[in-house]
Parts: sequence; C-alpha cells; structure tokens
Amino acid sequence: MNVLELENVSMKYKELFALQDIDLAVQKGNWISIMGPSGSGKTTLMNIIGCMSKPTSGKVVLDGSDISKENDKGLTLIRRDKIGLIFQQFHLIPYLTAVENVMVAQYYHSLPDEVEALQALERVGLKNRARHLPSQLSGGEQQRLCIARALINFPMIILADEPTGNLDEKMKKSSWRFSKNYTSRALRSSL
Ligand SMILES: Nc1ncnc2c1ncn2[C@@H]1O[C@H](COP(=O)(O)OP(=O)(O)OP(=O)(O)O)[C@@H](O)[C@H]1O
Ligand SMILES: [Mg+2]
Repeated sequence: MNVLELENVSMKYKELFALQDIDLAVQKGNWISIMGPSGSGKTTLMNIIGCMSKPTSGKVVLDGSDISKENDKGLTLIRRDKIGLIFQQFHLIPYLTAVENVMVAQYYHSLPDEVEALQALERVGLKNRARHLPSQLSGGEQQRLCIARALINFPMIILADEPTGNLDEKMKKSSWRFSKNYTSRALRSSL
C-alpha cells in the first residue's frame, strides 16, 4: 500500500516554479532520500508533504486521503496526528527546556508524559541535557532534540530536512537506528 502519492504536483512562487509536475509514490515501510542542489525545491516539497503549505496545482494523497482538498484546519490535524517533522532550521521553543520541548509535541498530540519524553531524550544521547534550554545546547544536540520531538508520538510519516547535517558519523548511525525503531513501532500499531 502507498502511504504517500503525489501526482503532477507544482509549486509556483510568482513566475518561479519551485516544483514542477512532481510524481512520487512511497510504500509503507520504505525510506527514501531526496537529493538535489541548493534551491532545487527539497524544503518546498517537504512543506507540502508535511501539510505546511499547499501546492499551486496537483494532487497529494496521504494514507488514502487527498490532502490537497483540505483547508488549513484539516491540514493542522493531519500534521499533528500523522507526521513527524525534523526541520532544517530547528524551530525549538527558546524559553522551554529540552524535555519541555518534547512534551509540547506530546501535549498537542495527546497527553504530556515526562517519563516518556526523558526516555526519548536518553535514546538520542541527551539524558544529561534534559533541563537545558536550546541556547545552551550545541548544534548537533539541538538537532538530536528535534529528532526526539519528531518521533515522540510515533508518527506514520517522518519527514526530515537535512537531519544529520550537524551530526558526526556515530550520531548519524544511532539517530537512524532510533528513527527506524520508532517508525516500526508506529507501523505495527497502525496495522
Ligand atoms: N516563500 C517563498 N517565496 C518565494 N520563493 C521561494 C519561497 N520559498 C522558496 N522559494 C524559492 O523556491 C526555490 C526552492 O527553494 P527550497 O527552499 O525548496 O530549496 P532547497 O532545495 O530546500 O534548498 P537548500 O538545499 O538550500 O535548503 C528556491 O529558488 C527558493 O528561492
Ligand atoms: Mg532546504
């Protein structure tokens, strides 16, 4: 079963096509990478699949429903329930600690659970940084915090925009292991 399908998707900013006639099908359980030079439309594509913006034309089907027809409220609900986002810019809340940043994601999805949030931080190697503010974390630590936040609700789809750019080789490997573990749990729970 395809968890995601794009048909003829285009995004036009004034006269510039950031994306033009994109077709894509992704099956459940698959991991894909999209590579391209700076400015080629990778973030634009992630924003559309992640329900943060709508394409100017084309169809996007996520888990069987056509999200190109949703209004802003519908898109927010789909994003909350089905998608985990790891941003190119971290978008952490500056006045909340690491564990609180993870708990905000739990709060918007269901209920905050500090024990679970701390466990997620431990798995990305941030156990001893849980009470730090984002400004007190290194770039790689902030990125790992974003990964913990994106995965905390076991999303059906994880979208990651250059997620390991700030991580060393060892951290890259353990972050991906961690992500796969979380998605396989999410997949199991949705079967
Ligand atoms: N809100 C916007 N308004 C106008 N043009 C935009 C907007 N967002 C992106 N663009 C343009 O669309 C094109 C694709 O941008 P996008 O951010 O998707 O590229 P990218 O592949 O993610 O690049 P990078 O590797 O540098 O992050 C670029 O030419 C960019 O200038
Ligand atoms: Mg980008």
